[in-house]
Amino acid sequence: MVELRIEPVGPSMGAEISGIDLSEPLSSQNAEAIRKAFLDYQVIFFHDQDLTAPQFKALGEVFGDAYPHFFARNLGGDLQNINIISGDEDSRIRGTADRHVMFHSDGSYFEYPTGASLLLGKKIPSLGGDTLFVNMYDAYDTLHPALQRACEELQILHTFPNFTKSNPQGLNPKYFSDHPGNGIDEGSLNGRLHPLVIVHPETGRKALNVNRQFANKIADMHETQARQLLNLLVEHCTSTPEFQFRFQWKTGSIAIWDNRCTLHTPIKDYSVPREMWRITIHGTKPLQGVAPELESVAA
Ligand SMILES: [Fe+2]
Repeated sequence: MVELRIEPVGPSMGAEISGIDLSEPLSSQNAEAIRKAFLDYQVIFFHDQDLTAPQFKALGEVFGDAYPHFFARNLGGDLQNINIISGDEDSRIRGTADRHVMFHSDGSYFEYPTGASLLLGKKIPSLGGDTLFVNMYDAYDTLHPALQRACEELQILHTFPNFTKSNPQGLNPKYFSDHPGNGIDEGSLNGRLHPLVIVHPETGRKALNVNRQFANKIADMHETQARQLLNLLVEHCTSTPEFQFRFQWKTGSIAIWDNRCTLHTPIKDYSVPREMWRITIHGTKPLQGVAPELESVAA
């Protein structure tokens, strides 16, 4: 009998899981091992998984309750929680000329930001389209302690950029929907305050909660200082290869990442056709990190 194997693929983050056929029903033991690897390594990968939509849906259930994301069409009916992400004909050129997709965590502008995201490569070109990931535990841990303490007291505004106003080539409004709590609402468009340092609800570890795409203002700070601090933190996260991992897709690959402690960005240098299926898992309200002095007082 083939046994489940979990092997790290990067020094900072990421593990590949093999020895399992996800088209078969998952045993509770294997489901638990996969969930543990997801928490331990922040992002996990599988290869050679030729899954039907119901099989992919069953994998998603290991990570919580799914919802259909507003930004792309979905399979509909019982499978509405699977979105279809396909590259259009000018993806490569647009990606080079227009960096409107940058490092981000999914749904960070929601009241309950996305927990896990799952992507399954259904049709992958031979070159290009890698995904870059950042370990946001490491991003926090490697800040100077004085900066850690300052960040723990701050809140940051996460806003959904209205692409349809600022970028006519952006998201198509026909995909916007009114799924309660997960569609684009006034709070998402006006900006939502979340802690700049969050505590992961399952691991208890602290992570930096900043990204270039959606986090655009630090609250209650002079505008110039807020902008400079934001630039410093974003540069720290996205320009430090030591806590990044680059994933190369193949047809049948699956990536599952934890938005509560990672950032990711697609690299839009691929040719078409490319098609992926995506499942998006509900998250919870972000918990504020507590400064070390306060922790010791509380203890
Ligand atoms: Fe994303």
